[in-house]
Amino acid sequence: MSWSPSSWRDFPIKQQPIYEDLALLESVEKELAKYPPLIFAGEARSLKEDLAKVSRGEAILLQGGDCAESFSSFSASNIKNFFKLMLQMNMILMYSAGKQVVKVGRIAGQFAKPRSSDFESMGGVELPSYRGDIVNDIEFAAEARIPDPMRLLRAYNQSAATMNLLRAFSIGGMADLGEVHRWNLDFIKDFPLGKKYEELSEKIDMAMKFMAACGINSKITPQLHQTTIYTSHEALLLNYEEALTRRDSMSGEWYDCSAHMLWIGDRTRDLGGAHIEYFRGIKNPIGCKIGPSMQTDELIRLIDALNPENEEGRLNLIVRMGADKIEDHFPALLRRVKAEGKNVVWSTDPMHGNVEKSSTGFKTRDFENILGEVKQFFAIHKGEGTVAGGMHLEMTGEDVTECTGSQSSAVTAESLGNRYHTQCDPRLNANQALELAFMVSDTLKGI
Ligand code: PEP
Ligand code: CO
Repeated sequence: MSWSPSSWRDFPIKQQPIYEDLALLESVEKELAKYPPLIFAGEARSLKEDLAKVSRGEAILLQGGDCAESFSSFSASNIKNFFKLMLQMNMILMYSAGKQVVKVGRIAGQFAKPRSSDFESMGGVELPSYRGDIVNDIEFAAEARIPDPMRLLRAYNQSAATMNLLRAFSIGGMADLGEVHRWNLDFIKDFPLGKKYEELSEKIDMAMKFMAACGINSKITPQLHQTTIYTSHEALLLNYEEALTRRDSMSGEWYDCSAHMLWIGDRTRDLGGAHIEYFRGIKNPIGCKIGPSMQTDELIRLIDALNPENEEGRLNLIVRMGADKIEDHFPALLRRVKAEGKNVVWSTDPMHGNVEKSSTGFKTRDFENILGEVKQFFAIHKGEGTVAGGMHLEMTGEDVTECTGSQSSAVTAESLGNRYHTQCDPRLNANQALELAFMVSDTLKGI
C-alpha cells in the first residue's frame, strides 16, 4: 500500500468545506507548500520520546487550549496568559506527582472545527455552519459563511506568529523557576486558588534556594531556566496538512510540519476514510479521539492501521466518553488493548462527552461532570493496573464564563452570559483549570 502526502485524496472524506473558487483554492495550496515548516522533525521526535515516557508512567501529559483559536482574539496577552496557565498547571502536577509534565498546547493551528450539522438555523433562517476561522466567519450572515481559501494563509500566518512568541517565552526567561510567583494570573491572585498556588510557589522558592546553596542555579542549569511547550491541533483540513507535509532530510521520513502532534477527531476516524490514510504516513506523534461509539475490534484495527510497528509514544488515544458513560464503555476497550499488548498513551478528554444546554440557552459543561470523568478515568486505570497518561482540556488563561460550577469560580447558568467568548465549545477558565489541576494532583498522590 503506497502512501504519499496526497494519497488521502482517493478516499472518502468527511467534514470538509465546499469551496466555490477551486482555482483560488489550488493556488493557495501551492503557496502554502512553499512556506517554511512551523516545526522541525527533530522536535516531533523529541515529543514522541516524551510521550513514550508518559506511556510507561514516567511522565504526565497535559494537553490543552482553546476549542478553536480565532482571528479576532489573537493577541500577545492571550498567548501570554495561556502560557502562564500551562506553567502553573505544570507546577501543580509536577510537584505532587514528582514527574515531568509533557506540555502540549491546542494552539498555533487549532482552527478547523468538525460540526454535528452542516447547517445552522436562527429565527427561521438556515445558513451553512461555521467551521472555524480557517474556513469561514462566525457571523450569522450568508456572505460570512462562504468558505474562503485565503483564510488558510491567514491561519498559517497566525500560527507562525503564535509559535514564535511561545518559543520566545519558553527560552527567553519567562519559564525560569525563579519566576513562579509571576505566573500567577492577576485576576486570580487574591482568590483562594491564587493563594493556594502562592503557597506552592513558596515551597518551590525554598527548594530553589536550597539548590542554589548547593551551587545549582538557573544561570548554569538550562532546565531551571527554560521549558518546552509543544503544539498540536486536529488535522481536519487535509489539504492544509498536505501542503505542510515535508520530507525530513535527516531520516527521509514524512512529517506534518504544521504542528508537533496532530490528532483525528471522533467524527473523522472511520477506517477506510481519508483521515486514517493521511495519518498512517506521517511520522509525528498522533492522537485519536475515542468516543462512546467505538467498538473493541474496531479499536484494535485502528491501532494497527495507525501504529503498525507498535512504537511507544506514537499513538495517544484520547478518551471522551462523558461522565455518565465512561464506566460502561471504557473498561472493555482498555482491557482489550492491554491484552493485545498494544503500546498507547491513554489520556482523558473530559470536555467533549459532557456538553449540555444551560437553562439560559448556552452550550456549557459543568465542572462536576468534567472532574467526575477525570476521576473515573484515573480509577479505571488503577483498577486495571494500566497507566493513566494525562489530560486533554479545553481551557483558556482568560477569566471567561463558559463552563458552570467549581468552588473557585461559581459560574451559574445565569452568569454564563457575562463573559461567554468562545468561538465554539465552552472552555474552563483559568480558575477552573487550576482547580482541576489541584484536584488531579491529589489523585496523583494516591497512585
Ligand atoms: C475537539 O477536540 O474540539 C473536538 C471536536 O473533539 P471530538 O472530535 O472529540 O468531538
Ligand atoms: Co471542542
